Amino acid sequence: MQILASALLAAAMAAQAVIASPIRARSPYAVKETHFAPREWTKLDRANGAKLVQLQIGLKQGNMDGLLEHLNEVSDPDHARYGAHLSADEIDELVRPSKETCDQVEQWLSEAGVGGHSYNTAKDWITVNLPLEFVEKLLDTEYHDYKHEDGAIISRTTHWSLPRHLHSHIDVIQPTTSFFRGAAHAATYVKTIDEVHDEVAKLSLAAASYGEPSDVSKVCNVSSVTPECFATLYKTKGYKTKAEYKNSIGFANYLEEVPIRPDTEQFLKKYRPEAVSSAKTFTTFSINGGPLNDGPLSLGSAANGSSHEANLDVQAIAGISWKTPIVSYSTGGRPPFIPDLTVVENDSEPYLVWVNWLLQQRSIPKIISTSYGEPEQTVPRSYAERVCKQFAAVGARGTTLFFSSGDSGLGGTNKCYTNDGKNTYKFLPAFPASCPYVTTVGATMNFEPEESAYRAARNVSGVFRDLYSSGSGFSNYFKQPAWQETAANAYVKSIGDLYKGLYNPAGRGYPDLAAQGLYFAYVWNGTEGTISGTSASTPLTAGIFALVNDALLASGKSSLGYLNPWLYKKGYKGLTDITKGSSHGCNVEGFPVTKGWDPITGFGTSIFPELVKLAGAKVW
Ligand SMILES: *[C@@H]1O[C@H](CO)[C@@H](O)[C@H](O)[C@H]1NC(C)=O
Ligand SMILES: *[C@@H]1O[C@H](CO)[C@@H](O)[C@H](O)[C@H]1NC(C)=O
Ligand SMILES: *[C@@H]1O[C@H](CO)[C@@H](O)[C@H](O)[C@H]1NC(C)=O
Ligand SMILES: *[C@@H]1O[C@H](CO)[C@@H](O)[C@H](O)[C@H]1NC(C)=O
Ligand SMILES: *[C@@H]1O[C@H](CO)[C@@H](O)[C@H](O)[C@H]1NC(C)=O
Repeated sequence: MQILASALLAAAMAAQAVIASPIRARSPYAVKETHFAPREWTKLDRANGAKLVQLQIGLKQGNMDGLLEHLNEVSDPDHARYGAHLSADEIDELVRPSKETCDQVEQWLSEAGVGGHSYNTAKDWITVNLPLEFVEKLLDTEYHDYKHEDGAIISRTTHWSLPRHLHSHIDVIQPTTSFFRGAAHAATYVKTIDEVHDEVAKLSLAAASYGEPSDVSKVCNVSSVTPECFATLYKTKGYKTKAEYKNSIGFANYLEEVPIRPDTEQFLKKYRPEAVSSAKTFTTFSINGGPLNDGPLSLGSAANGSSHEANLDVQAIAGISWKTPIVSYSTGGRPPFIPDLTVVENDSEPYLVWVNWLLQQRSIPKIISTSYGEPEQTVPRSYAERVCKQFAAVGARGTTLFFSSGDSGLGGTNKCYTNDGKNTYKFLPAFPASCPYVTTVGATMNFEPEESAYRAARNVSGVFRDLYSSGSGFSNYFKQPAWQETAANAYVKSIGDLYKGLYNPAGRGYPDLAAQGLYFAYVWNGTEGTISGTSASTPLTAGIFALVNDALLASGKSSLGYLNPWLYKKGYKGLTDITKGSSHGCNVEGFPVTKGWDPITGFGTSIFPELVKLAGAKVW
């Protein structure tokens, strides 16, 4: 998906030539997609038509059903083909659009005067840089600027059209109707050590211990949880990696975040000294103009609080999964952007840009952790579905994608209203957490027993607000996958009429599992502090499963790949069930955490040696 300067120029020139007359097509235009702007966004003036946008056109894939069939077979532990993952070329072959699709779309673009566009290797995505006013003609629409509550401005439309004969050949075009914030699931809940002490004292969180101290109580301190605690609690302690040369673990950064090496080094020196070389050796990729930074946090980035998330990710991963090689991806392009005529607007679609780039690579990590997400309803359905399918393709390659479930429980305080123009009070599931092809991680706190993570506060006027609650929900876009039927239906049945009508009991429920997510010790800008969120539980879980993969690869077996079918059939037996807490959010107490699967902690937290056994690796 390279965008060549000459292509850009050619497209811009072609655009100029055509701009005066409306685009004539072989069939009349009809609306292809409509999507309401979320309530946090206010419509402003018409967008500046001279601005260049990077348009991504997703063609209907040739044999996606075939790909999903392969995926189900190679991910089902009871199937003969379990573990027989597909190569990048095999996947390209399956998703390549039909000749008719390619011809029809090419003809439309060529008649419209669009040149210089490029394809990915599977030929199911076209990328082209065009002035916005040309896009408006191409899609028979008008773009406006929209301002988010927090001041960010993006140019979007609420509907766009295509010639009728292309409706069945094009699935999605962006940026058009997506209203993303691309929020990291941490960062907002950063504390100095002193603040945490005050809080822990106030809320009497620290568990009282009676009798002989347990191994866990000796190393786990609620005020500041460390790699030593995780290794003891989840029983990875003493495991020595054996397959580093064929294994790796990646994590994805957005919003100009980049993991800071000196901070990572400081962290590892203190908390996992044997792993300190990881701080120098993790590899970094810049995608779509994402940042690359080898040194300390710049003053500017420190001032705007950048890279909390990236630092947390690399430190959580290195702390648990050493010596597994670590790969960091920083993808550029996001809202908010400051409108500027001279640069291509990279406020594009970060997940899409990243996953399409990833699928182009012939060799990718076996585990990838992502701690970003947004309310599902801010993402147009066609886009969510297409991105989710791209994630399925990653799974078919033998890679497990972990995503965080979010930090606002059922959807935050005073925020839970629909986006369909009716403003109905409803729970707000998160995307990509709601995609069935990713494994979604919730957060716990406390020890012996762990419970779902939750923090609330009153401000000085005494007004109560949820600060942080492990993300929870049921998708409105993705239906309940077969592997989840037994677990999710049992839960829905157990709560009876509770919150009936506020959530979709027939949707994909999440998270799938959980891990600690409160007051992680970490280093940022040379300073020790703590940070919380499902942003913490997700890289931690990813790191534990990287070690499970290590044991598998060392036993001559395949990596876990798309995890959920295995997790719901077998793997759950290697997790500690969490039974305390509730989801909170949307101004209610929320779903209760129960025995068995629940949509707050999933099946619970990892017991590493059990997971290794269940995965079928030689026991170490
Ligand atoms: C927990 O950690 C804090 C901060 O590192 C420390 O001050 C406190 O004494 C610890 N508590 C226990 C019980 O070790
Ligand atoms: C936007 O993306 C393009 C294409 O990858 C890149 O060349 C450019 O530097 C990016 N621009 C900004 C402002 O990040
Ligand atoms: C923070 O500052 C850096 C350096 O000035 C800049 O590149 C980055 O875009 C800023 N990030 C945010 C989130 O504003
Ligand atoms: C980051 O560290 C620098 C150098 O120690 C310091 O001057 C600056 O105040 C720090 N910034 C923040 C926001 O902590
Ligand atoms: C407390 O929160 C309420 C509701 O958000 C707000 O109206 C009020 O101004 C807040 N009080 C202070 C002192 O921040």
